[in-house]
Amino acid sequence: MQTLRDELRMVPSIVGQAPDFDWASVPATPGELFLRWLRFALDADVPEVHAATLSTVDEDGVPDARMLIVKDVTDDCGFKIATSDESAKGRQLLQNPNCALTFYWSPLARSVRVRGIAQRASTAESAEDFLARHSQARAIALAGQQSSVIAGDAVRDEALTEAKAAIETDGLTGSPHWAVWTVVPSSVEFWQGKPNRDHQRLRYIRTGAAWDRQRLWP
Ligand SMILES: Cc1cc2nc3c(=O)[nH]c(=O)nc-3n(C[C@H](O)[C@H](O)[C@H](O)COP(=O)(O)O)c2cc1C
Repeated sequence: MQTLRDELRMVPSIVGQAPDFDWASVPATPGELFLRWLRFALDADVPEVHAATLSTVDEDGVPDARMLIVKDVTDDCGFKIATSDESAKGRQLLQNPNCALTFYWSPLARSVRVRGIAQRASTAESAEDFLARHSQARAIALAGQQSSVIAGDAVRDEALTEAKAAIETDGLTGSPHWAVWTVVPSSVEFWQGKPNRDHQRLRYIRTGAAWDRQRLWP
């Protein structure tokens, strides 16, 4: 009888098509390379190209991780994300800004790993991001504290109805808890998977104002 383990072993991995890439002439900065890879992924219609795993550390030093959307990438390689200060990740970042972001673009067999520090954006930038969100997303953010336990369906429905009404009355209703963060990298690794397992890895490490580059064994 086939076990789950057998079945999982049969599932192919690294199924994407690795694009041609000249590792000998990579740019001097990870920002330039990330934007080049992102553009390629966008043009290749990679689904949810902006989704990444954000890893943080809680107050006991225990790692935590979850998916989120990267909303922008600055020319100097700052990754913009947004969340509630009241969420687990929000509280963790406020207490310890060390974090990591991991992208995986399966159709291209590409992954990017970012390690760095999250810097909180200005109140104005966070407010602008909040108001640009879908009204239902804003209502949910206003109705309850992200990552807290829902006391019951009735409590949830009532809070949501109130929040929707507040937004309908004043379209500019904001949230004091919504925050944009910029993940400023100390290192960025580009990983290109190959079906023959001869994967390519290139890591940029920040050294003051410049970046060192290292090829890594896969
Ligand atoms: C594809 C995807 C995108 C998501 N985008 C966000 C996001 O941009 N911001 C956010 O706070 N949560 C986002 N979430 C929800 C988080 O994964 C998570 O459930 C939530 O933020 C609570 O996480 P926390 O308790 O660790 O703070 C997303 C989830 C998925 C699967």
